[in-house]
Amino acid sequence: MSGPRHFLDLWRLDDDALRAMLDDARRRKQARAGWTRGRIDSDAPGAGRTLAMIFQKNSTRTRFSFDAAIRQLGGDCVIATSSDMQLGRGETVEDTARVLSRMVDAVMIRANSHADVETFAQFCDVPVINGLTDRSHPCQIMADLLTYEEHRGSVAGRTLAWVGDGNNVCSSFIHAAAPFGFTLNIAAPEQYPPNAEDLTRAQKAGARINVTRDPREAVAGADAVITDTWVSMGDIDEKARIAALTPYRVDAALMAVAKTDALFFHDLPAHRGDEVTAEVIEGPQSVVWDEAENRIHAQKAVLAWCFGAWG
Ligand code: CP
Ligand code: NVA
Repeated sequence: MSGPRHFLDLWRLDDDALRAMLDDARRRKQARAGWTRGRIDSDAPGAGRTLAMIFQKNSTRTRFSFDAAIRQLGGDCVIATSSDMQLGRGETVEDTARVLSRMVDAVMIRANSHADVETFAQFCDVPVINGLTDRSHPCQIMADLLTYEEHRGSVAGRTLAWVGDGNNVCSSFIHAAAPFGFTLNIAAPEQYPPNAEDLTRAQKAGARINVTRDPREAVAGADAVITDTWVSMGDIDEKARIAALTPYRVDAALMAVAKTDALFFHDLPAHRGDEVTAEVIEGPQSVVWDEAENRIHAQKAVLAWCFGAWG
């Protein structure tokens, strides 16, 4: 690959590189057992490197996990919201990318518009990482797959069931299905379906993806049940969403349709009583806190790859 190693979407990346990132994340996490959270990994692949983080939307996990990740790799970071920057006063994405290219070693962006992240990467001479857009959330899926594999071994050949809005997080699961070799069942209402372009691309790449409107059909025999908020950042049709998505709530009765040892995933923040009941998210099948922690470990592997530490 020529040019900077951008981490924009899973479908754009090489299958072997993605697999190696997940393995690196796991090794790095295991090597830190018992360490304080601020201690630097022994190989310090981020030493002498600075990560810029730009947020156009709110964040808890992405912000803190990237900050922890770059420090554990031996590097440093600068964080800004776009409203603090000239970007918030109309400076172009292109000019911002060219300026930051001269100042930092990588940029993580959480943006309203996916197209802006693509443009940023096009004009940036250092790696750009997608920290969530309206279209995808690849870092989250790397953390989720790391979590699945820690609990249950290889995700290849397993069946994951997505229940709810066919949103940005759902799209990144669609992007991951072919490279990681899992079957993805998606249950979504007619009004909020998974992205058709993503489905077509994934199916061409050999992904096994089934789409239904029936949550029980999607979850039947699944190894994992996954959901997300019904109202994502930037969505304006809250009432309509809640009405359409109420039949997609993950409750104990729906979990009972999955395998008995199925895991429950939610990227957080969660809305108990909407997309998931308190009983399920607080229950023994829930791995949501591992998912949150694993954002650090997965993103360390992403950053190390972006920095060319391996591969
Ligand atoms: N899951 C996730 O990306 O959380 P934040 O919005 O808090 O970053
Ligand atoms: N789908 C949600 C994910 C939040 C981490 C959103 O975009 O708001």
